[in-house]
Amino acid sequence: MLKEAVKTVLPTSVTNQYFELRGKIRLQKIPVRAFDTRNLRRFSSVDISHGFSDPEIAKAWEDDHQAISQLYRAGELTMGVNPGDRRAIYSLVMSLRPQNVLEIGTYIGTSAIYMAAALQRLHGNRRLTTVDIFDVNHPKQGAWKDVGLSTPPAECAKALGLSEHVQFHVGASQDFMRETDERYDLIFLDGDHDAWAIYEELSLALPLLQKDGIILLHDFYPGGKPIRSDGYAIGGPFRAVERAQREDPAIQVLPLGTLPWQTQPGSNTTTLALVLKTG
Ligand SMILES: C[S@@+](CC[C@H](N)C(=O)[O-])C[C@H]1O[C@@H](n2cnc3c(N)ncnc32)[C@H](O)[C@@H]1O
Repeated sequence: MLKEAVKTVLPTSVTNQYFELRGKIRLQKIPVRAFDTRNLRRFSSVDISHGFSDPEIAKAWEDDHQAISQLYRAGELTMGVNPGDRRAIYSLVMSLRPQNVLEIGTYIGTSAIYMAAALQRLHGNRRLTTVDIFDVNHPKQGAWKDVGLSTPPAECAKALGLSEHVQFHVGASQDFMRETDERYDLIFLDGDHDAWAIYEELSLALPLLQKDGIILLHDFYPGGKPIRSDGYAIGGPFRAVERAQREDPAIQVLPLGTLPWQTQPGSNTTTLALVLKTG
């Protein structure tokens, strides 16, 4: 709420600096948390290039992307993951073949819809649970209205025949992760981007992983520095992981770097990154 109020009165560059600083200060105040890397997949066992070059996955993407785009604008949507990252997330799901996926940060459901489509295509009883602190499907106050979409994410999933593969949960990420009995093969952290929040979420997400599970981060800017010519960067995810790695050197990050397709005009660079363990 405070964030939204501040954003309406100050320019983006100033608000970003303010929230970065606030995130850093809050991160320093948080006591050391445990990082249970037991079930985290090893760095050496991951080959991300397969998912990005496999012709069958590329064909599945073309078909699903076309169907989704009829309901859900194909281009950039404010704060939703960009079109190139949607393809990367879809391809990762197709390649990793997770049974159970958790997403923190539903917003307008961009990443959720693409993950659900990949889960359906993989067949079997695969499911995504997507959590947001706001009721993203609210008929009047859902963010889908603000960005000009014609339907809330749950309606969109229904129209695409994906309902049985995606469950929407309204609540704070940390509460959900503390309370759930479920275990996940893939956890996508795309909620609060403040360093302190991601540090906490990382600690809470690790024990929820199935064996060889993976955590996927969005907006991971290595060094907290811009990766595109627009000079824009979000420092929170990097700073959170930096601290976690200092406290537990077994944690390793694999930024997905440059994709075979465009993510934003003039750039193929993605801020998606995998959290794995050394070895
Ligand atoms: C960047 S958006 C997510 C974009 C989304 N993945 C998409 O592709 O449309 C971040 C979302 O995280 C949610 N969020 C922020 N803090 C949260 C928290 N503590 N628990 C759950 N959701 C949170 C926000 O309400 C917002 O909808």
